[in-house]
Amino acid sequence: MQGERLKKSVRDRYGRIAQTEGSCCGSTPGCYSGIDQARDVARKNGYSDEDLNALPDRVNLGLGCGNPVALASLREGETVLDLGSGPGFDCLLAARRVGARGHVIGVDMTPEMVFRAREHAEEAEITNVEFRLGEIEHLPVADSSVDVIISNCVINLAIDKGQVFREAFRVLKPGGRLLISDIVLLSPLPECVRGSVDAYTGCISGAMLKQDFVDAVKKAGFQHVEIRKEVPFSLEYVISDPSTSSPVTRRILTEDGIGGTEKSIASIHLFGRKETNS
Ligand SMILES: C[S@@+](CC[C@H](N)C(=O)[O-])C[C@H]1O[C@@H](n2cnc3c(N)ncnc32)[C@H](O)[C@@H]1O
Repeated sequence: MQGERLKKSVRDRYGRIAQTEGSCCGSTPGCYSGIDQARDVARKNGYSDEDLNALPDRVNLGLGCGNPVALASLREGETVLDLGSGPGFDCLLAARRVGARGHVIGVDMTPEMVFRAREHAEEAEITNVEFRLGEIEHLPVADSSVDVIISNCVINLAIDKGQVFREAFRVLKPGGRLLISDIVLLSPLPECVRGSVDAYTGCISGAMLKQDFVDAVKKAGFQHVEIRKEVPFSLEYVISDPSTSSPVTRRILTEDGIGGTEKSIASIHLFGRKETNS
């Protein structure tokens, strides 16, 4: 029940973010303080100016914590699945890389996000992409049907992470690759942060310990699992987001909680492969 309530909070929060219109200007929930800041977040996460200029500004809401597309070495003609595709930024970049013979599927459980991502694809005139409404714990995708799975700052929000990795393994073709950018913990969070719903929907308190994350991916059947990049994750991204910056959350995150010990949180890029004989 607790899990279902958290899932609803996640859906409500990202539904509100998806409905922030147009430029994300001003202090609208979830959109930092405008296009420039969302671009800044994206640059820090590893996107190039070429990536940012390739799509309309409103596609990038600055919601990621890395750039899985950059590390996926996508090839023309590949089928790509994005777990928790949000406004579709990574899907649209991936669609450009795989070309007309390739295909990209974004899955997200928040109807407003799916609606917005479809609008973005139309606006950018990108046709080799589709967005499906669904949970990443129960992927609306056929067995062994995709070449590459990407995901950006989503798995920390899932209630049953083991099930997400098992589903990812199921839908990946033998020989397929998994590229995840996500938040992990380097040490356990204080109790007050662990119990905060805002910190959960803000991608902090649902994060797994780094080694547990790696072990869960391996347990689902992936091989060659490795962390290819690890960088500290700044809490600035969470507490500057108006939808999680209630005075209580600010206090929990800064004074009482992990303030000053941001070293407990990192953003990782994880690689895994499904063996050809799987
Ligand atoms: C932090 S945003 C990241 C969005 C996108 N990956 C990006 O980088 O812009 C998290 C997204 O994951 C979606 N999400 C969270 N939990 C999910 C789940 N269990 N199944 C499907 N989508 C989920 C949310 O609706 C939201 O759009």
